[in-house]
Amino acid sequence: MTDRLDGMNDGKRTPWVVGVSGASGTPYAAAVLRGLLAAGESVDLVVSRASRLTLLDETGISFRDAHWREDLAAWLARGADGKPDTFAVDVSGVRYWAAGDLAAGPSSGSYPAKGMLVVPASTAAVAGVALGLSKDLLQRVASVTLKERRPLVVAVRETPLNGQTLKHMVALDEAGAVVLPASPAFYAGATHIQDLVDFVAGRVLDAAGVPHRLYRRWEGELGGATPRSG
Ligand SMILES: Cc1cc2nc3c(=O)[nH]c(=O)nc-3n(C[C@H](O)[C@H](O)[C@H](O)COP(=O)(O)O)c2cc1C
Repeated sequence: MTDRLDGMNDGKRTPWVVGVSGASGTPYAAAVLRGLLAAGESVDLVVSRASRLTLLDETGISFRDAHWREDLAAWLARGADGKPDTFAVDVSGVRYWAAGDLAAGPSSGSYPAKGMLVVPASTAAVAGVALGLSKDLLQRVASVTLKERRPLVVAVRETPLNGQTLKHMVALDEAGAVVLPASPAFYAGATHIQDLVDFVAGRVLDAAGVPHRLYRRWEGELGGATPRSG
């Protein structure tokens, strides 16, 4: 059961809502959550039912509503290479809402929120938000974010993409969302999987205007990423 009392807004907090849907890429979500918390942001978290399968598959963690704090702490401590306890993260800035709780605070536009980051975004979530289905809390909050004209960043993870999803992505763009494919770049000198994950997470935070130091920015110098031999 969700810690609903803990989720009551005290009138002071204005969180970012992070929606984790069931696309591959739970390390992206972990990196975005760590980045927000490191920047001193508060977070309201929604984890879709399907994302529990990807989380289990990608980290071995069985996410439970009743034990969300400890499961989230274990998840955020994990590196993209699967090693536990790679990061030390204080999750006290997070409020958790169950995906089926359509009466949750963030389901209303009157609940204060800075905006929403959907990371990773499944094609199902992209479709649901583009069509305004609101079939679970994640989709409802994304629709509310759009109607309130707050920033919505949708980090799509699928390849290849069919025409339907491409149309849904255009619809989201036209509705004011930032559609951000989870596609890492290689100019920032990545040497580990975590670097590639952090690049995508950093671009999500860039789109939200949240400061971070997750990747090395392009400074106009070709060859900066690769040490030259000979
Ligand atoms: C292990 C696993 C990996 C998946 N990876 C993706 C993916 O990368 N992209 C995607 O769009 N769907 C992916 N799916 C399918 C979604 O989980 C499925 O469409 C689900 O209905 C999404 O629901 P949600 O958007 O409510 O989380 C994956 C499913 C599983 C079990």
